[in-house]
Amino acid sequence: MSSRTVIRGGLVITASDEIHADVLIEDSRITALATPGAQNWSADRTIDATGKYVIPGGVDAHTHMELPFGGTFASDTFETGTRAAAWGGTTTIVDFAVQSVGHTLREGLDTWHAKAEGNCAIDYAFHMIVSDVNQETLKEMDLLIEEGVTSFKQFMAYPGVFYSDDGQILRAMQRSAENGGLIMMHAENGIAIDVLVEQALARGETDPRYHGEVRKALLEAEATHRAIRLAQVAGAPLYVVHVSAMEAVAELARARDEGLNVFGETCPQYLFLSTDNLAEPGFEGAKYVCSTPLRPKEHQARLWRGLRTNDLQVVSTDHCPFCFTGQKELGRGDFSRIPNGLPGVENRMDLLHQAVVDGHISRRRWIEIACAAPARMFGLYPKKGTITPGADADVVIYDPHAEQVMSAETHHMNVDYSAYEGKRVTGRVETVLSRGELVIDQREYTGRAGHGVFTPRSTCQYLT
Ligand code: URP
Ligand code: ZN
Ligand code: ZN
Ligand code: ZN
Repeated sequence: MSSRTVIRGGLVITASDEIHADVLIEDSRITALATPGAQNWSADRTIDATGKYVIPGGVDAHTHMELPFGGTFASDTFETGTRAAAWGGTTTIVDFAVQSVGHTLREGLDTWHAKAEGNCAIDYAFHMIVSDVNQETLKEMDLLIEEGVTSFKQFMAYPGVFYSDDGQILRAMQRSAENGGLIMMHAENGIAIDVLVEQALARGETDPRYHGEVRKALLEAEATHRAIRLAQVAGAPLYVVHVSAMEAVAELARARDEGLNVFGETCPQYLFLSTDNLAEPGFEGAKYVCSTPLRPKEHQARLWRGLRTNDLQVVSTDHCPFCFTGQKELGRGDFSRIPNGLPGVENRMDLLHQAVVDGHISRRRWIEIACAAPARMFGLYPKKGTITPGADADVVIYDPHAEQVMSAETHHMNVDYSAYEGKRVTGRVETVLSRGELVIDQREYTGRAGHGVFTPRSTCQYLT
């Protein structure tokens, strides 16, 4: 049985074009674009997109469903988190499987497959967090790449948990220079930060805002610089995750001017929130504790500029939700015990559309940083991230004029607060298709757990 869907009359926006076109979907794929009204395609379903945008489903290349962290677990499961993603116009997530110290990559990957399989509303893929670099791990990296897990996150932060030292980082980078893998770096000097944490707590500085003070921008910039030079020595490409400090953007910009294959990701929280949120009274600041931390507002302009000049290529969410009640509260009286992470998988496409409305980026740049670039960076293009014949029919009908107010009362993420509570934005997801199936139909959820499948990736397609 084949099914045909036609989307008529919308403005099709990709990273490269904006064209008024009708879109034909046959089964799970986009098969044709045509001048509006020019083709008399028969269809089982016709979607009228007049006055709306027709955009590729979002690709969120950084999520942590069910992540174990600080004695608890991120509160979205693959089921709740991918449903919320769909509500927000995201049709692919790349989540992080975790190798725990003393275990193999295989064990970690199997565990994450078991969490996700049969539970996802949209398609998913995995990166691998490498916490224990040894000869066995290095060999396993090659095997994972063959299975479509082609990127590996290392941490210069969190000593004793995820941390790798410079030698371990260099070895993993050397391996990825050979096997085509992409090293993703959490760039913060965790050894120095731990000293500052201890000293702050000894001074009685226990409130959430001190999380931002000890995790200094200079220590993000220093680690970013070190990661860049280690990658240069290894001859490997590098992708720096959750960049928040203007000094770190400057390191990336300089390396790129030198012609290095160095890339940067930032997240909506760094573009729209600041240390003012961390300083909110009555422990409210705990809602905004993540690492790298939120920065003073003046950093935001540098991030926007980086996104415009392509010194930053991708905006992902680092979605890692912890409820305020019972989870963030673990850190009352000691900011270092607040689980790190913010919810956002449902908010990213809308916040970045607001950035279009606010004049920070163009519409095509919106699609580039939220869909096409992450798909290319992580080997999913053009299956994901664009609207073109042959691509998966992951398509969003977006109403650019609808007004909404972000709130925990109305969001679908399994977390008891919104980092953007009360924020008014223009634009809203109306309808979402994932591989040709309706997941959101005019703001009704019609998806199902288990529709989403594991999507193996090729190696990075973004290298110069
Ligand atoms: O605070 C954060 N970002 N939590 C998730 C783990 C990570 O470092 O990405
Ligand atoms: Zn084991
Ligand atoms: Zn990180
Ligand atoms: Zn993360």
